[in-house]
Amino acid sequence: MKDMLESIAREAKASLELAQSKQELENIRVKYLGKKGELTAVLKQMGKLTPEERPVMGQLANEVRASIEALIEATDEKIKKAELEKKLREEKLDVTMPGKKSELGHKHPLNIVLDEVKDIFLGMGFDIATGPEVEWDYYNFEALNIPKDHPARDTQDTFYITENMLLRTQTSPVQIRVMEQQKPPIRVISPGRVFRSDAVDATHSPLFHQIEGLVVDKGITMGDLKGTLEAFAKRLYGNDTKIRLRPHHFPFTEPSCEIDVTCFKCGGKGCPMCKGEGFIEILGAGMVHPKVLSGCGVDPEVYSGYAFGVGLERLVMFRFDIDDMRLLYENDMRFLGQF
Ligand code: PHE
Repeated sequence: MKDMLESIAREAKASLELAQSKQELENIRVKYLGKKGELTAVLKQMGKLTPEERPVMGQLANEVRASIEALIEATDEKIKKAELEKKLREEKLDVTMPGKKSELGHKHPLNIVLDEVKDIFLGMGFDIATGPEVEWDYYNFEALNIPKDHPARDTQDTFYITENMLLRTQTSPVQIRVMEQQKPPIRVISPGRVFRSDAVDATHSPLFHQIEGLVVDKGITMGDLKGTLEAFAKRLYGNDTKIRLRPHHFPFTEPSCEIDVTCFKCGGKGCPMCKGEGFIEILGAGMVHPKVLSGCGVDPEVYSGYAFGVGLERLVMFRFDIDDMRLLYENDMRFLGQF
């Protein structure tokens, strides 16, 4: 029995010296000291010994157990230390290595121009108003003097959520919302997304952006409209820019016009960009229809106003000489990196 105990001690020591991980260590512990372990198996045979031999072997067995336990503890320390060293080695950081360069983004061309437009109008005393993109039929059409059977609805077909709720086709509903909430004098612009069920091509997108403008006060005339938008065009496209008003029709303005600016490319001489016209159309405008004013509780006998709606994509495309609107939405870095 003595031999057995000594060989257990030897074997345990030998395998502990080779142990590399906590798991191996645990396996060794179970193998020698566990309930079904080798040492326990030997101790179970104590009964076969003579009463003289028993205490001697008992003591030896205890010594063997204690020595194995001590060895296990020491090995455990050793393994922990080795693991820590390995971790530190792996996490070593060379602070003298060149860093990874993080690329700085910049504004999207739509936002570059939008911010300029906002600046120009804020500088002229306008506030910024917003409205929902999911809009009631009432605000998008009805209150703008476009009843259910009006042909203007055909050109602004959109995505309906219910019969009375839709994705707004223009920023003009914000005019109504502002007039319902504010008393004149009113001076706001309202930039935002609008939607129409148009197929995508170089000049159309089912989602695009408009900037609405609305001024309501006593004695507002078409002259104010013209002067303000001329100042706007000069600020945006340069001092030599001229504007031209062409008669047009919108149900919610009377009279109505479209406003063109001198072609930034040829300066008005006529070129392929402006199709020989010398001018390029940038917005629709007019004097707010008396029906629209009174519908919002504004007395048209006392107050008058003008409104306009600019297509942001057009401004951006003219400004940066971009010939395909799709480029503005595709997020191609080769395109965006140029701004
Ligand atoms: N909402 C019109 C459109 O989308 C533009 C417009 C706005 C015209 C304001 C007149 C006054 O075509």
